[in-house]
Amino acid sequence: MGGNELPDYDFEKHWNNAYQKTPIDGLGWYEEDPIPSMELISACNLPKDAQIFNAGVGAATLIELLLNKGYTNIIVNDISSAALTELKNNLTEHKHSQVQFIADDLTNPSELLKLKNVDLWHDRAVLHFFTTEKQQKVYFDLIRQAIKPTGFVILAEFNLEGAKKCSGLDIVNYNEEMLQERLGTDFKLLKSFNYTYTQPSGGLREYVYTLFQRTV
Ligand SMILES: C[S@@+](CC[C@H](N)C(=O)[O-])C[C@H]1O[C@@H](n2cnc3c(N)ncnc32)[C@H](O)[C@@H]1O
Repeated sequence: MGGNELPDYDFEKHWNNAYQKTPIDGLGWYEEDPIPSMELISACNLPKDAQIFNAGVGAATLIELLLNKGYTNIIVNDISSAALTELKNNLTEHKHSQVQFIADDLTNPSELLKLKNVDLWHDRAVLHFFTTEKQQKVYFDLIRQAIKPTGFVILAEFNLEGAKKCSGLDIVNYNEEMLQERLGTDFKLLKSFNYTYTQPSGGLREYVYTLFQRTV
């Protein structure tokens, strides 16, 4: 899974371009109603003030939905400041004051190193872009540093039957066993399912959705 060299590529620029050149509801990962994520988040039975961290959030509609459901302690992150600006602009001022925005690289974190006591880590279509062993190690170390004991992790990535590229970039395909192996034995798999997502263009993308809980 992945080589050892970090690719010589400006990912921040890539993602800023993606968000600047296409309206969000035309992006290949735009989800009007994030049903599978909400199903897993509901299964966690978290209190409304639980600390929910969204890794590589983009301009996801999930955040407005969580705010509408009364969650008050949401942290969002992306490598792209353009994505975070778009997300902020799409929320009312009242709502975005309840969200903490962190522009940082999950594979080379600085501000994100302060994350602690996270009740739920949510990642849809982010980890699969980390193609090198080093990027993956930094990402999973960050999860372990941030998640509290008994905290939850949702990872939703292209599955083994899924596409090999997204946004023109190479990706790594996953199944639940691979995600379990990367998280390690301190995390227990609670739920997992495959899900076919329909893109705005009508294309189909095969995902695996997983919900883990930290047990130690
Ligand atoms: C395919 S999009 C998915 C966006 C969002 N999770 C969703 O479901 O709509 C991938 C997102 O990951 C972000 N991203 C990619 N690499 C990242 C990194 N190293 N650190 C933080 N965010 C990253 C991108 O900017 C983009 O918003």
